[in-house]
Amino acid sequence: MTPPERPGPVVHDWAMVPLPATEFDPLPYRLLHEEPVARIRLPHGEGHAWLVTRYEDVKRIASDPRMSRALTVGRPITSTTPHTLAPAGGVGRADPPDHTRLRKLIAPTFGRRRTRALRAHTARVADGLALRTLDHGPPADLTETFIGPLSAGVVAELLGVPAADLDRVQDWRARLLRHDTTAADGDTVKKDIAGYFADLARHRAAHPADDLISELAAARTAGKISTPELVSLAVMLTLNGLDAVRNIVSTMVYVLLVHPDQTAKLRADPDGLPRAVDELLRYIPQRGGVGMPRVATADLDVGGVTIREGEAVYVFYPAANRDPAVFTDPDRLDLTRDEAPHLAFGHGAHYCAGAQLARMEAEVMLATLLARFPGLALAVPPERLVWRTGSVNRGPETLPVTW
Ligand code: HEM
Repeated sequence: MTPPERPGPVVHDWAMVPLPATEFDPLPYRLLHEEPVARIRLPHGEGHAWLVTRYEDVKRIASDPRMSRALTVGRPITSTTPHTLAPAGGVGRADPPDHTRLRKLIAPTFGRRRTRALRAHTARVADGLALRTLDHGPPADLTETFIGPLSAGVVAELLGVPAADLDRVQDWRARLLRHDTTAADGDTVKKDIAGYFADLARHRAAHPADDLISELAAARTAGKISTPELVSLAVMLTLNGLDAVRNIVSTMVYVLLVHPDQTAKLRADPDGLPRAVDELLRYIPQRGGVGMPRVATADLDVGGVTIREGEAVYVFYPAANRDPAVFTDPDRLDLTRDEAPHLAFGHGAHYCAGAQLARMEAEVMLATLLARFPGLALAVPPERLVWRTGSVNRGPETLPVTW
């Protein structure tokens, strides 16, 4: 039930204006400094919601078992997109015990051991793509020739999406993640994509392979997961694997190229790469939206504000990553920074399932680029780069480079 509106602080309209490069969205930035628990209204949905921006408050809300994702289902909560990205029954919108059950099913695929095993294969693929890029250039669009194919290939292999189907899935991804996709279009895409993964799972149930879709199909036969849950898991994993990594690694390369002094130091000390990747994850405001809301199942106090039972709450991880109470000079990139863990992958029970994988892919791609392209530079002035706007994940449309 939606609680009755109550008088309270002013509601801020968050227009989600298109932002280039790594520019930080002015509204959440201001709220972090001036009103860390604020009321916001987003372009779609109804009413308003709370927005929490400070590091400690974000961690508290994201790990509080009284905050529910399941209760967001069927409620027209104010939101970034006209349609709800994450399907009901999906891992992002489930609470324990369903959420715990779904995470357990995918944990082995995304765990440290499997990711370590995948690293050598990923490095070989990365090297092959780098050599091909070298052969054909300069210049080259690194997103097209290197970052996109690598991230798509890795997730397709883990899940078991045939390479021949990737273009179709990419097209669904682009339509689903755009801010201006209408609710009706969103529903059509979701139906197509659900039909595709249901068919794929049916096929793998009969002809199992060594991939996650086959494992999930077996779990469904064993009654451990329903068909809608299987489909929404597959969709979420595919979309994240295809889009989030492509965008953030492209942005990481851009950030390195516009900070040549720090990048030179990193080249001289390749062991510093994991720390540099974490700093890039902290620094880059990757979201072109605010993420998914939670609903309070009890009254609770956060940052001196009482959130009432039934009210919707967003946390904004990119703002928490710029909290001056936690990070010294937070708007400055410092590839040798060694402070608190960033929250780019979220926090608490819904912590990103693909974090190990994404980090591994980023490390492998950057290591390969630094080793194979000693003279890597942007092929156009930075201000000429075109940035994706109106989509859930931010990143460059293309990344023209030379060497
Ligand atoms: C660098 C790239 C990535 C970033 C920055 C990122 C970030 C995030 C964030 C912030 C969340 C939400 C946490 C919350 O709801 O509180 C999330 C959830 C999730 N991510 Fe990622 N992600 C990335 C890559 C991936 C990849 C490659 C996969 C899988 C192939 C993945 C799978 C998921 C899943 C399944 C969830 C939902 C977890 C749950 O609700 O329990 N992500 N991610």
